[in-house]
Amino acid sequence: MKHLQELPAWRELWQHFDATKSDHMRELFATDPGRAERYWLEVGGLKVDYSKNRITDETLALLMKLAREAGLPERMKQMFRGEKINTTENRAALHVALRNRTNAPILVDGEDVMPQVNHVLHRMGEFAHEVRSGDWLGYTNQVITDVVNIGIGGSDLGPLMMCNALKPFGHPRLKMPFVSNIDGSQLRDVLEKVHPETTLFVVASKTFTTQETLTNALTAREWFLKHADDKSAVAKHFVAVSTNKKAVAEFGIDTANMFEFWDWVGGRYSVWSAIGLPLMVAIGEKHFREFLRGARAMDEHFFTTPYRRNIPVLLALIGIWYNNFYQAPGYAVVPYSHNLRRLPAYLQQLDMESNGKHCGIDGGSVALDTGPIVFGEEGVNCQHAFFQLLHQGTRLIPSDFIVPMRTAYKVGRQHRFVVANAFAQAEAFMRGKTLAEARAELADLPEAARDALAPQKVFPGNQPSNSILIDELTPFNLGMLLAMYEHKIFVQGTIWGINPFDQWGVEYGKVLAKAIEPELNRDQTLHHDSSTNGLIDFYRACQQR
Ligand code: F6P
Repeated sequence: MKHLQELPAWRELWQHFDATKSDHMRELFATDPGRAERYWLEVGGLKVDYSKNRITDETLALLMKLAREAGLPERMKQMFRGEKINTTENRAALHVALRNRTNAPILVDGEDVMPQVNHVLHRMGEFAHEVRSGDWLGYTNQVITDVVNIGIGGSDLGPLMMCNALKPFGHPRLKMPFVSNIDGSQLRDVLEKVHPETTLFVVASKTFTTQETLTNALTAREWFLKHADDKSAVAKHFVAVSTNKKAVAEFGIDTANMFEFWDWVGGRYSVWSAIGLPLMVAIGEKHFREFLRGARAMDEHFFTTPYRRNIPVLLALIGIWYNNFYQAPGYAVVPYSHNLRRLPAYLQQLDMESNGKHCGIDGGSVALDTGPIVFGEEGVNCQHAFFQLLHQGTRLIPSDFIVPMRTAYKVGRQHRFVVANAFAQAEAFMRGKTLAEARAELADLPEAARDALAPQKVFPGNQPSNSILIDELTPFNLGMLLAMYEHKIFVQGTIWGINPFDQWGVEYGKVLAKAIEPELNRDQTLHHDSSTNGLIDFYRACQQR
C-alpha cells in the first residue's frame, strides 16, 4: 500500500491548495449563486449545509479521488463484513452490528453475531421495563427512583450525553445520575442525594479492570451495605455491563444481572450496546430501538451513497483538507442546544482517542498530521467564551454548528434567538468584515479616532463551518448524528493509514500512576526526574499541614 503522500491525488491537492488558498468564501458565494444548493445534503432528519467551506467542486473531486486511491472502498466493505480491521488488537470493529435491525448475518470468526446481539437487546428491554414499571423492587420492596451509572470514557460519555439530549423522553420517576471521576466529590455528591432502598447502580466497564470504575463501585457497594446490612440485597441494587464475566463475578455482582457486550465493540463506539442500558431505562425500549434505527439509517446512507452525496465521507474529506493542507490545529463542536452540552466531550473521545495516532497500521510513522484537536461548548455560551479567537484570531479553525430546528421547550422567543445566533455566527465567520466596512461603522468618530479603532474591528472572515441541522432532538435523529461522526472518523483514520479502533496511548499513564500512588504517602526514596520527585515531595509536605 502506498503512503498517502505518494498518491497522485495528494500531489494534485497540494497544487490545488496553492492555487486556491487565498480565495475568500465571500467571492465563492458572490460568483456562484447556486453554491449553497449544491453543497446541501439531506438524510432523514439531518440536513447538512457544507457550503461555508473553503472548497470548490474541484477540491471535492480531488479529495474523493484521494479517498479512492487510499483504499476507502475496500476498507468500508471490510468493516461491514466483520473483518478484523482493528489489526493491533486482532478484532473486528462491529458497532454497526449493534444496530443491524435487518438481522442479516454478520460473521466474526465464522459465527453470526446477530443472535447474541438480539438476545442482549431483548434482556435490556426486559430489565428496562421492570425498572420503569416498578416491578423491579429494592430490598425494602420499594420501586427504584435513581439509576446511578458508574463508568468512565466510553462507559460514561455516550449514555450521559444521550440521557441529557433526550431529557424530554425520560421517565417521570427516574433520575439518572452518572459517576465517572474517581476524585471522590462526584460520587459523594450523588450518594448524598439518593436513598439506598430506591437506588440501582449500573457498573459499566468493558474490561471491568478500570480502576476508577471499580474503586467507585466498591465505595458505592460499601455505602449500600452500611444501610442494607445484607449482602444478598446487592443483587437487587447492582447490575453490571461488561465483556468480562469472570471479573464481574469476582467483584460480587451476580452474572445473572450482567449485560454483556463483546470485544469487537470499541468503548467509544459502545453506546449502542449494553453500555446504553441507562439510556434504555430512561427513555424505554421503544425509543432506544428508534435510536438504533437512526444509526442504521446513517449506516445504509454511508455504505450505499456515492461519495459526492455521502455526508460522513464529505465531512471527513473536508476535515482532511483543513487538517493536512491548511494545517488547522483542530475543530470546534458547537451544539446550539443546552441538552447537547455533553456532545463536544463525547466527540472528543470518539475522535481524539480514535485518530490521535502517530503510528500507521503498517507499523511505520505516519509522518503527517492525523487526529485533530476537538473542543467545543454549547451555543450560545461558546460565543461568550472562545468565539473571539475564531472571529479575530490568527488560526483557521473550522466549526460544526449543530442546530435543532424545533425544540420541546416552548419558552418565549428563546429558541428563535438561539437559532438566529447560530446562523449569524456562521455568516460572520464566513464573510468577516473589511476595513472599509469597519470604518463605515465608525463614521461618527473623528478621523484620527476612526483610523486608530477601525483595524481593531476588522474580521478576516473565511473561517469555515458546517451547519448540521436536526429537525428535532429525537432518538432516531440523534442515532443518525452519532453514526455520522463515527463514520466520518473512520474515513479519516483509513485515509491517514492508522487504526481508529485501538487506544494504546491510554495505558502508559495508568501504569506510571500505579507506581506513584504509593509513593505519595510514604517517605521512600524517589527515582523519578527532578520535576516528578519535586511534585511528590510537595504533595507529601502539604499533607503535613
Ligand atoms: O480511556 C481508555 C479507555 O479504555 C476507553 O477507551 C474506555 O472507553 C474507558 O477507558 C473505559 O474503559 P472500560 O469500559 O473498560 O472501563
